[in-house]
Amino acid sequence: MRPLSTKLAAIAPSATIEITEKARKMQAAGTDVISLSIGEPDFPTPSHITEACIDALRRGETHYAPGKGIPELLKAIAEKIEQENKIPCTPDQVVVGCGAKDSIYEACEAVLSPGDETIILDPSWVSYEPCVQIAGAVPVHHPLHQNTFQVDDSLLEKVTKKTRMIIVNTPSNPSGAILNHESLQLVADICQDHDLIVLSDEIYEKLIYGKIHTSIGAFPGMEDRTITVNGFSKAYAMTGWRLGYAVASKEIIGNMNKVQQHTISHPTTFAMYGGVAALKGPQECIEEMRAEFERRRAFVLKSMDEMGLSYAPADGAFYAYVKVDGDDAEVANRWLEQGHVAVTHGSAFNHPGWVRLSYAASMDRLQEAMSRISAVL
Ligand SMILES: Cc1ncc(COP(=O)(O)O)c(C=O)c1O
Repeated sequence: MRPLSTKLAAIAPSATIEITEKARKMQAAGTDVISLSIGEPDFPTPSHITEACIDALRRGETHYAPGKGIPELLKAIAEKIEQENKIPCTPDQVVVGCGAKDSIYEACEAVLSPGDETIILDPSWVSYEPCVQIAGAVPVHHPLHQNTFQVDDSLLEKVTKKTRMIIVNTPSNPSGAILNHESLQLVADICQDHDLIVLSDEIYEKLIYGKIHTSIGAFPGMEDRTITVNGFSKAYAMTGWRLGYAVASKEIIGNMNKVQQHTISHPTTFAMYGGVAALKGPQECIEEMRAEFERRRAFVLKSMDEMGLSYAPADGAFYAYVKVDGDDAEVANRWLEQGHVAVTHGSAFNHPGWVRLSYAASMDRLQEAMSRISAVL
């Protein structure tokens, strides 16, 4: 048989999913593995959201919906983006996808032509590079500052005539770092000077500890060149609902909608009613989860201090990103095989020498995990 897609041959499977699978296999074989490798809130979806979805099902919202999403949800997203993120937005500048991941993929397809370069700031979330590659474009990696995890002038060295887009992610998965105003201004200036688009992944915007979140789409001159991506998975513990969205100029949204029309059509109709309830309903549930993450974060970082391990800023998301000695994949493997704790090695984020621990696990499990890691060390 002739070879399958050469485009996909160059793309590695998701490292985070692979590690979680290995941990699952060990668990199935009877080993008590503590999985700190997956980026998923361990809370149930708030009940008012689930109820809204069930109501929608009972009302018979089980048919095709408008391609970009149900009007109520487009309106709720546009209002949220204007009020909270200070980005001018009308409902026709929104497209709802099957998770932020889908919106990121569609954004790449919508903007990039074959051979275009996209700058990815490392450490970077595992799916940016494959999304760029699937769109036939070329990922160009650039490291954030190694201590501050901020952008500096060296970014300009990566801009060429072929550069079309820069991807920013704040708060960051895996580092938890939040890009400050200066970093975002640098990116905005470069985008305007070189006619680039920025894809801003803000999926962790609600999970921050003592800092404030800034959207690059709100910077002067950035309205038409920013694709702001967000979703429901992390803020509302809705990972399995597969609901995310992008906000951008009508032209970009039009292109994303073309991709959507010929692939997913739209996200599940009744799930979108849960999305409306999430955005329009009570928001205390977010603070309750955030506060619990903050408590766990304090415990994990204190444990890291006690073990003499250093870590990235951890100002947002739910990850401790920890510096390790030696090969990070070997370290992660050792922690899994000897300590039965699954973490993700930094190389998966194009950033060797680090490992990522998710503290989206109960306090009891985190306590046990820390003592196991300490024993391995
Ligand atoms: C940085 C980042 N962006 C996007 C996503 C995708 O989220 P969703 O579940 O909405 O597809 C994740 C999920 O882990 C993430 O960590």
